[in-house]
Amino acid sequence: MRTVAIINQKGGCGKTTTSINLAACLARLGQKTLLVDMDPQGHCGTGLAVPEEQVERTIYDAMLDPADTRDGRVPKVSEVVWQIATDFDLAPSNIRLAAFEQVFAGRPGREDRLGNALASAKDQYKWCIIDCPPSVGLITFNALKACDEVIVPVETGYFSLHGLTKMMETLDMLRERTGKDIAVRVLPTLYDTRTKLAREVLSELRAKFKDHLMTSTVNFNTKLKEAASFGQPITEYDPGSKGYKDFANLARELMGGRPAEPEIAPDKMSRPQELVQRARALAQLANYQFGKNAVPTIPAAPSAGQIPAVQMPGVQTPPGQMPAVQMPAMATVAASAPAIPASAPLFGTGVQRIAAQAFASAPVSAAAAASVAPQPQQLLQPQQQQPVRTTEQKLADFYGVKQTDDGVVFSARFDQARQVLIAGDFNNWTPASTPMFRQPGAGWSMKLPLAPGRYRYRLVVDGKWQTDPHNQYVETNQFGEMNNVVEVE
Ligand SMILES: Nc1ncnc2c1ncn2[C@@H]1O[C@H](COP(=O)(O)OP(=O)(O)OP(=O)(O)O)[C@@H](O)[C@H]1O
Ligand SMILES: [Mg+2]
Repeated sequence: MRTVAIINQKGGCGKTTTSINLAACLARLGQKTLLVDMDPQGHCGTGLAVPEEQVERTIYDAMLDPADTRDGRVPKVSEVVWQIATDFDLAPSNIRLAAFEQVFAGRPGREDRLGNALASAKDQYKWCIIDCPPSVGLITFNALKACDEVIVPVETGYFSLHGLTKMMETLDMLRERTGKDIAVRVLPTLYDTRTKLAREVLSELRAKFKDHLMTSTVNFNTKLKEAASFGQPITEYDPGSKGYKDFANLARELMGGRPAEPEIAPDKMSRPQELVQRARALAQLANYQFGKNAVPTIPAAPSAGQIPAVQMPGVQTPPGQMPAVQMPAMATVAASAPAIPASAPLFGTGVQRIAAQAFASAPVSAAAAASVAPQPQQLLQPQQQQPVRTTEQKLADFYGVKQTDDGVVFSARFDQARQVLIAGDFNNWTPASTPMFRQPGAGWSMKLPLAPGRYRYRLVVDGKWQTDPHNQYVETNQFGEMNNVVEVE
């Protein structure tokens, strides 16, 4: 049984939320898990709808001496637990636990009461999560002695950072007293990526506690609050929520896997899907120049694996500016599009070049894109001499970093993401100042006016820092992660 104590003397930093939902996610992943409530407030029971009035025995009873009980018998942990879900049991607590420090003060072995009680359960569970009270006393020291590792949830606010330094010092001191090599890790919680303070605190945490910081972060998510008020773990209340994802990630990280990256869309498409997508790309290009209504509806292809439309942030035909190349009436383009010969290159020189030029020209505009676009009839000619390129190659061309005359365009594809930000040398690593913009059907992009030089950056996708998957040029940073690198000429 691997035992993890959730400790922070600061109140309200997410200890109980972390304990309940981490335990629930471990259980959901098939790991038999015991959650031990070591807080006399009994919040684990409340948060899991265990009826307080029906709780007869608690973890406190399992820690007593026979002389402390009426019948001279101390219940085993297995006799006090409540089953919450499959593979998920709770050893509850209540206000009686508040007497623990007084009752055991001066008794030999008072620091090992919990460890001894849990020894009887160690073969029944794979994991034991201990929720501690917001204080560092005998109860917390018992948890520390009973555990193999500690997670310190830290709310990403200013005062928490201040308190954390003290907490870590205290833990260091206590850890020495246990004589055990206990791993202590910091888990950022209640992280609200929209606030500057939270972002700054997270950067500070990364800088200050780099060796102790968990890769996972728990975002502020109202579903977690709601789940607790409904007496359910997030696994039951809303398994589709961001809160669930964060705790599932945390569970995976503890289990030794890396937290899951946000999904990058699968990229294999069937031939008909690709053809439809190509037609859509053409139609969208035409939209810029002739208005939406001129284009007959083209059936939407499945969203997974879409080839991006030829579209850029802020791409508009400047008022009064004529496209350099006259396009035929839209009906012709749209009607012709499905008739693309099967042997035509899917994203061949025509659309590919438009896309590439759209990135490469400055300012990026539909007019500019159109000025390099060949006649649509040419696009629809079979071009047998061109080798058929894989979807991966086409995506590689479309996404990534492209230098234009007036800036550098970052484009990335995260179909499931709700927010993508860039952080790098150029914005002092403050992602919020540089959000990428979602382009319907074309991923996320952002153009930055960067002076010549070498820059490092990372993407922050729904609050998670990660390497840009479309830029192979990387180097390791001080946290052992990969920064992307871009060189502007
Ligand atoms: N990630 C989160 N998103 C939204 N609300 C959260 C999150 N984490 C915790 N909360 C809410 O913050 C409040 C405090 O959380 P919690 O009870 O887990 O903290 P705690 O550290 O256990 O507090 P205490 O020190 O009193 O035991 C609760 O109302 C909880 O629902
Ligand atoms: Mg609590």
